Amino acid sequence: MCGIVGYIGPRDATPIILNGLKRLEYRGYDSAGLAVLNNGQLELRKDAGKLSQLVEHVNKSPIQGAPGIGHTRWATHGVPSARNAHPHLGQTGRVVVVHNGIVENFLELKDELTAEGIEFQSDTDTETIVHLVEHYMAAGLGLVEAARQTFQHIQGANVVVLMSADEPDKIVAARIGNAGGVVLGLGEGENFLASDIPAIMEHTQRVMYLEARQMAVVGRDQIQVETIEGVPVKPQVHVVSWDPVTAEKGEYRHFMQKEIHEQAQALTDTMAGRVDFARGQIRLNDLKLTQEFAKRIEKITITACGTAAYAGMVGKTLIEKIARIPVEVVIASEFRYSDPIIGPQDVLLAISQSGETADTLAAMEEGKRKGAALWSIVNAIGSQAMRIADGFISMQTGPEIGVASTKAFTAPLIDQYMLAIHLADLRGTLDEKTRRALVADLRLVPDLVSRTLEREAEVEKIAYRLKDVHDCLYLGRGINMPIAYEGALKLKEISYIHAEGYPAGEMKHGPIALIDASMPVVCIAPKDPWHAKMISQIQQAKARGGTVIAIATDGDELVQGMADYVLWVPETPWMLSPAITVLPLQMLAYHIASIRGLDVDQPRNLAKSVTVE
Ligand code: F6R
Repeated sequence: MCGIVGYIGPRDATPIILNGLKRLEYRGYDSAGLAVLNNGQLELRKDAGKLSQLVEHVNKSPIQGAPGIGHTRWATHGVPSARNAHPHLGQTGRVVVVHNGIVENFLELKDELTAEGIEFQSDTDTETIVHLVEHYMAAGLGLVEAARQTFQHIQGANVVVLMSADEPDKIVAARIGNAGGVVLGLGEGENFLASDIPAIMEHTQRVMYLEARQMAVVGRDQIQVETIEGVPVKPQVHVVSWDPVTAEKGEYRHFMQKEIHEQAQALTDTMAGRVDFARGQIRLNDLKLTQEFAKRIEKITITACGTAAYAGMVGKTLIEKIARIPVEVVIASEFRYSDPIIGPQDVLLAISQSGETADTLAAMEEGKRKGAALWSIVNAIGSQAMRIADGFISMQTGPEIGVASTKAFTAPLIDQYMLAIHLADLRGTLDEKTRRALVADLRLVPDLVSRTLEREAEVEKIAYRLKDVHDCLYLGRGINMPIAYEGALKLKEISYIHAEGYPAGEMKHGPIALIDASMPVVCIAPKDPWHAKMISQIQQAKARGGTVIAIATDGDELVQGMADYVLWVPETPWMLSPAITVLPLQMLAYHIASIRGLDVDQPRNLAKSVTVE
């Protein structure tokens, strides 16, 4: 997850930024840099690798001045290198930017800017931002208005921070979607900004947060906040406690809520360094997959527990559809007792947030014993499931603290989508046009997530209606069937309400007998290839007096006409839709549990990492 730190005031910005970036190291990164203003000139230092390398670089070749901005980067566009590290200067050398997120329309913008004669110095999408700002400044606008025009022009969920040598009295920051947070720290005659509180906690306890589509003009003595459209906003000032746990929770009441809201960022990060949008290709280096082996694979068995297993069920549809390799999903606690039919021509793919789940590790051992290639998709870096695998995909989503898994559910959905494309590419089973289209769709993900999470208030209203129910049914079909399982699991584990996930088509074979006026039925009915089937399920539930809460695609009047409540999601390419439809269900479970006053982050009887059988 990229980290950003900014400082404006009388002190030298360099140590403040370097210390702040150090506190953001937990987010993970592969390069770092900073820029400060010194005697009217912008000075930059940046490097690939760890922050210590940047510090060494600065020690050898010191810079000082203020204001200043710094950044730790997790590569999305272009390899980790000094050239691609942030900050990025414009052509005049007078404007500099750091950025977190993906500029979805960067290829179009790059073409337009290149046609204007601009020569790009890096492979990043970020560089388009600084050139656009300079384009508007050249037309006569000041930094703030040029930045505002640029923010309106770039698509996607992005955090952008800019400064200009010609306007040394300000730093401009914007949170365009939910691509990570922006916290503004209030000092005396100096101000700070960062991606997260720990970066500035040693300097101030008084903070404000930028919401989506807000920008701030940060001066030494004042911070002006407005929407990107120019409407003034007065954000609340929070006084944060020095307690590091509270500080880490930031503006959220619980880690689970924070982690739900981190998903635009988490999914950007899980793609980082792996998606080549220009060539329409996927790189998964840690998988160490050769073309020869990719062509030989006869079957993939996915094994995992709980939420991770439901992620695997979505993966089955993706890998079978895109790579045309047969996939089965086996719950890890059953795998080693089932005398599994698996061998050297097969892959056993384990999915695990912690990488330490005993059942999952035991399944991996059994797979190894039978000669299968072991792959894992893991969040906890260095965990056993990562170490014992022949190849792995790291989720790269940062620590997940809430016991109920959220971002470690959506990240492996994207990882498996990438894996499916990579496999298909190596096996030669995907034509170039389709492959490029599938890869291009990944660009949409952070913004779709961000737009869905912005609808939390609507979800909360429905949570108030459902807070006292005793049972709840979740129905889904096709690629969204596992989302019914996952939605039900989220509700039961944190709210202690009995909930069942069911493949909607199975209702008529028994469970439909349960439906009456006291049974809420959550129907996951986005516009995917199973939409018509879900419509008929909604009708059947309504005919039996059930209260239907539908997850539906914006503008779907058919569903709106039938359901009692609708949780809307933006239109999404169907193979990516589970990463979106699950979001309202995570928020619904969270709000129901929180309204019931329960310990959301540490529900009874549960542990974050289940290291026993
Ligand atoms: C549910 C949940 C669990 C885990 C399961 C596997 O919210 O978190 O169902 O998904 O215990 O854990 P990992 O992914 O660590 O192997």
